[in-house]
Amino acid sequence: MNIIDIINKTKRAVPLEEEEIAYLVNGYTKGDIPDYQMSSWLMAVCLNGLTDHETVALTKAMRDSGDVLDLSCIDGITADKHSTGGVGDKTSLIVGPIAAACGVRVPKMSGRGLGHTGGTIDKLEAIKGYRTDLQFEEFAGIVNKAGFAIISQTGSICPADKKIYALRNASGTVDSIPLICASIMSKKLALNADIILLDVKCGSGAFMKTNLEARKLADLMERVGDAAGKKTRAIVTDMDSPLGSCVGNALEVKEAIEVLQGKIKGRLYNVCIELAANLLELSGKGTYGECKSMAEIAVSSGRALDVLRETIRLQGGDPAICDDVSLLPQARFKHEIRASRDVEIVAVNAEEMGMASLLLGAGRLDKDSEIDPTAGIVFDFEVGDKISMDAPLMTLYSTICSDFSEAAVRAYNAITFRDLTASALT
Ligand code: URA
Repeated sequence: MNIIDIINKTKRAVPLEEEEIAYLVNGYTKGDIPDYQMSSWLMAVCLNGLTDHETVALTKAMRDSGDVLDLSCIDGITADKHSTGGVGDKTSLIVGPIAAACGVRVPKMSGRGLGHTGGTIDKLEAIKGYRTDLQFEEFAGIVNKAGFAIISQTGSICPADKKIYALRNASGTVDSIPLICASIMSKKLALNADIILLDVKCGSGAFMKTNLEARKLADLMERVGDAAGKKTRAIVTDMDSPLGSCVGNALEVKEAIEVLQGKIKGRLYNVCIELAANLLELSGKGTYGECKSMAEIAVSSGRALDVLRETIRLQGGDPAICDDVSLLPQARFKHEIRASRDVEIVAVNAEEMGMASLLLGAGRLDKDSEIDPTAGIVFDFEVGDKISMDAPLMTLYSTICSDFSEAAVRAYNAITFRDLTASALT
């Protein structure tokens, strides 16, 4: 077996054997196969794809490059929920507590923001004192007590993905459905929960821009999960515009709490209920309709908020934020943008809005940048709303940036308006 033959086979779309894929992944992870040969193979995958059999083999080899957790110390059914990434996506902070309040155990490992997309760990670190780097025993103990815990991914889980992902980022090979599938599913299989629910985001703010691509990724991840012996379901949800009214870390924690307080309905609430209902149904809690009602009651009764309060307490944060969101860190500077004329909001480009928020400090321009937990954007509209001249459109927040000009232009230009002034209508 040698790497040149492997590259040539994929270049000619000849399927690789399982052993060849294991050789490639192990060789690259150990440093025996250099970056230039691996990136050449990755580019061949981008151009020719992989068969299902090869994708399963790649996913398993990446899973087995590090620890596979043993969750048998957690009582009851364990479920993992994963979103492929978007803007304003705080669903894990809402769906996890709902599912836990309905009797499913949710041990979650999450990542940090990537490009214009936010990451759950950055959001949680906006809570003063919240520890995301727990040892496994403490993590499992919190899941047993509260039903739900979120920690950051440890270096011992899927080291192959860590190395391959960095190389993909630097070699223009991120946007391949089998590579995205193997990257996500290897981490899900290493966490090793009984149930895997995948939320594949689709639209301008997501990696998958079209419904066709998103469904292809969703179907492939379901087949790979099933082939690895896990009950897996992948649903496609909209990420054409940011999810909810807030983008930015502390702002999104606040919004998640307000959903669990029952104060916010609309698209964000509906997506969370849909995800929670799917997760509960997959966990054998009843029909989809029954599970949807259970999820709604978990919010209206306050039980889901109780779970989040307990999780935050056990992970070192101040549980009082669940009752008083003003205790979350607040930005030093703000900048309000108003409508310059009567307009209808036709669309919001989520990727551009994510970039505007990143410029305020909510994300990273490079992997070592510091995050400003207070930075972000709050919208006063939903897509389809009509806004009168001079009425507020959105407010930008930051502590590290007092000059809002670049972010303000980017945020304003991310919105597609329809002019409603009389002159525009005549
Ligand atoms: N998220 C991942 O973990 N991997 C990808 O390849 C894309 C999104």
